[in-house]
Amino acid sequence: MNVTHLECAACGRRHEARRLHNLCTQCGKPLLVRYDLQQAATSLTKEALQEREPDLWRYREVLPVEREENVISLGEGFTPLVHASRLGQQLGLSQLYIKDEGQNPTQSFKARGMTAAVSMAKELGAKKLAVPSAGNAAGALAAYAARAGMEAHIFMPRDTPRANVIECEQTGAHVTLMDGLITDCGAEVGRRKDAEGWFDVSTLKEPYRIEGKKTMGYELAEQFEWQLPDVILYPTGGGTGLIGMWKAFDEMEQMGWIDSKRPRMITVQASGCAPIVNAFEQGKRFADEFPNAHTTASGLRVPKAIGDFLILDALRASGGTAVAVTDEELIKATKEIGAAEGLFCAPEGAACLPALKELLADGSVKPNARIVLFNTGSGVKYVESFSN
Ligand SMILES: Cc1ncc(COP(=O)(O)O)c(C=O)c1O
Ligand SMILES: [Zn+2]
Repeated sequence: MNVTHLECAACGRRHEARRLHNLCTQCGKPLLVRYDLQQAATSLTKEALQEREPDLWRYREVLPVEREENVISLGEGFTPLVHASRLGQQLGLSQLYIKDEGQNPTQSFKARGMTAAVSMAKELGAKKLAVPSAGNAAGALAAYAARAGMEAHIFMPRDTPRANVIECEQTGAHVTLMDGLITDCGAEVGRRKDAEGWFDVSTLKEPYRIEGKKTMGYELAEQFEWQLPDVILYPTGGGTGLIGMWKAFDEMEQMGWIDSKRPRMITVQASGCAPIVNAFEQGKRFADEFPNAHTTASGLRVPKAIGDFLILDALRASGGTAVAVTDEELIKATKEIGAAEGLFCAPEGAACLPALKELLADGSVKPNARIVLFNTGSGVKYVESFSN
């Protein structure tokens, strides 16, 4: 157990590790887990990893759970990094890869965050968990809570993909559908949680989902034999995966595994909900709430993200950028990737392709670069998006 403390990502205030926390008690921003990385590196070595199970708990020294029996797992992580050679050839690229997160339990990368959050909730004594969700986080929470024997209370917009609603019901969660957006669902959880005794596992409003998601950064490094790619395109809603990978790269550098070179981090959003793209273009550190948010890529329908400044800091520090694509483009891209590579992507993941094309066309990404697109989920959850 190498956790030393939790640290506010904005004001730096220290918080004690071994108790339940939501946001910073001083400034209301997200808390990040800090480790004794020198200690972690004594047993977490590149050689040791070769003997470990192919799931994200292979990085347990840099994950927060203390006691093995509290780990609630469905076999998440260590997803394939697919060399997209046919799609790459069509685009004139030899080093195009897709990290296929659709192969996680509950068919999305949200499983990574929830395995960590639910395991920690168990370790720290929570019994009832609540979450606002665009869909996939809900399905993941429902599954991991069921496995932990905990209650899951889920709040989703009424027009969330049907498959997400059904999977939550079939894994025993309490589901409430709301007229409004994920931000309205989050406000409802906030209003009711104290009276109901719920622990709020909204992304970045508790410190551990990001710890699960950061393992995507560890895996990329390991799967590329400890050379990070040049460019990462990531479909960004709350941004937890992007912020998590950025944190993982720093941790790996401190453990002496990689040097200071970083991939260019590229946020991809839908043009109907692009708060980070707007803030990036306007040079702002915090994003304004995006009005009338709409997109069929439901995971990208996040009009206001609490970690906005962390996303924007990573984009700028890495020499990256932020790109918006239309729903028409991202739906078309799903078939293009599917027909070329046999991967049925979530529309959020598919959105990376038109964004990449734009960056190739304006010369800001070079064809000889090693490029990773994040397919964050499976298209099977999105029947409605493809049926008209
Ligand atoms: C498939 C999919 N992709 C991307 C996202 C956005 O993820 P993040 O909150 O890490 O930005 C979501 C969130 O719901 C999602 O379900
Ligand atoms: Zn703070």
